[in-house]
Amino acid sequence: MISGKRILITGGAGFIGSNMVEELYENNELTVVDNLSNVDDRYIKKYQGKKGFRFINTDIADEEAFSKVEPQDMVIHLAANSDVRGGSNDPVVDFVNNVQGTMLVLEFMRRTDTPEILFASSSTVYGEATVFPTPEDYGPYLPISSYGASKMSGEGFISAYSHYYGIRGTIFRFANIVGKNSTHGVIFDFINKLKKNSDSLEILGDGTQRKSYLHVSDCVKSMLYIHEKTSRTDIYNLGNRETTSVMKIADYVVNEMGLKNVKYNMKPGKDGRGWRGDVKIAQLKVDKMFSTGWKNSLNSDESVHTAVKETLEQMGYGRK
Ligand SMILES: NC(=O)c1ccc[n+]([C@@H]2O[C@H](COP(=O)([O-])OP(=O)(O)OC[C@H]3O[C@@H](n4cnc5c(N)ncnc54)[C@H](O)[C@@H]3O)[C@@H](O)[C@H]2O)c1
Repeated sequence: MISGKRILITGGAGFIGSNMVEELYENNELTVVDNLSNVDDRYIKKYQGKKGFRFINTDIADEEAFSKVEPQDMVIHLAANSDVRGGSNDPVVDFVNNVQGTMLVLEFMRRTDTPEILFASSSTVYGEATVFPTPEDYGPYLPISSYGASKMSGEGFISAYSHYYGIRGTIFRFANIVGKNSTHGVIFDFINKLKKNSDSLEILGDGTQRKSYLHVSDCVKSMLYIHEKTSRTDIYNLGNRETTSVMKIADYVVNEMGLKNVKYNMKPGKDGRGWRGDVKIAQLKVDKMFSTGWKNSLNSDESVHTAVKETLEQMGYGRK
C-alpha cells in the first residue's frame, strides 16, 4: 500500500481520478489539479479544506499551471480530453490537452526532481489491431483517432524523459473503465437515452462491438499495485481477459431499469462501428498485468453489471 507520500493527481476531479483520490486520501498528502472541464467538483468536494488535500483549478496545458505546485514524490497523470468521439471534429483538442499537457507535467517533474509517474494511456494506441488479445508489444501502432495518437505521443515523451532524466514511468493502457463517478461512456449514454425515451434505445454501431471492461476499483488498485511491485519504466495493458458486447450492456441497463419491450435501434456506421474512430473489437492481452501477482475482483461482464447498478444509483434510479 502506498503511504506517506506527496502525490500529485492530474484530472483528480474526474471519473478515475476521484476514485484514485478515494483510494489514496487516508494515507498520503494529495494535490489535485483539474480544470473541471469535464465534470464539476462534485466528487472531490468532500475533501476540500481537509488536511492532506489540496485542489488547484488549473489547465495543465497552460505554462503557468504548476507554478503553485510543490515538489512531489509521485505524479498520477490522468488529466486528458477523454472524449474519444469528438476527435474527428477537432483533433487539436487532443493535441493541446493530451500532448502539450503531458509535456508540461513532465517539465514540472524535471524542474522539481519528481521521480515517478503513473500514466493513463489507452488501448486506442493499437488502432485496429489484428491480433486478439492484443499484447503490449503489438505493432506497428497505427491509431485511428487523434485521442489514440495523443496517448501514443504521451507514452513516447514519458519514455524519453525516463531515459534523459531518470524519471520512472509506469504506463497503463486501459481497456474500457466503468464504475462509480463515471460521467461518460456507453453505460451513461444508454441510461440517459432511456431516461428520455424508455420505449426504444438507439445503439451506435451494430451492437456486436466487443470490448473488455474493467471496474474502476480494480483499475486504480491495480495501477498502484503494479507500480509498487515493479521497478523500471514499462507498459501494462489493464483489462479483463473476457469481452462484453454492446448489446449485452444494453440488456443489463434495460433490466436494471426494470424496463420491458424496449426496441433496439442500431445505427451501424462503416463496418458496423459506432462512430468514426470507433474500434470494433478491443481485447487486450493482460498476462503481463497478472504476472505481477495482481488479480481483478470482477471480470468484464461483472464489471459492467456492477457499474450499471452504481451509475443508476448515482443518477437516483432505483429498480422500477
Ligand atoms: N474511462 C476510460 O474508459 C478510459 C480508457 C482509457 C484511458 N482513459 C484515460 O484515463 C484518464 C482519466 O479518464 P476518465 O475516464 O476519468 O475521464 P474524465 O474526463 O472523467 O477525467 C479527466 C479529468 O481531467 C480533467 N481535464 C481534462 N483536460 C484538462 C486540462 N487541460 N487541465 C486540467 N484538467 C483537465 C477533466 O476536467 C476531468 O476531470 C484520461 O487520461 C483518459 O484518457 C480512460
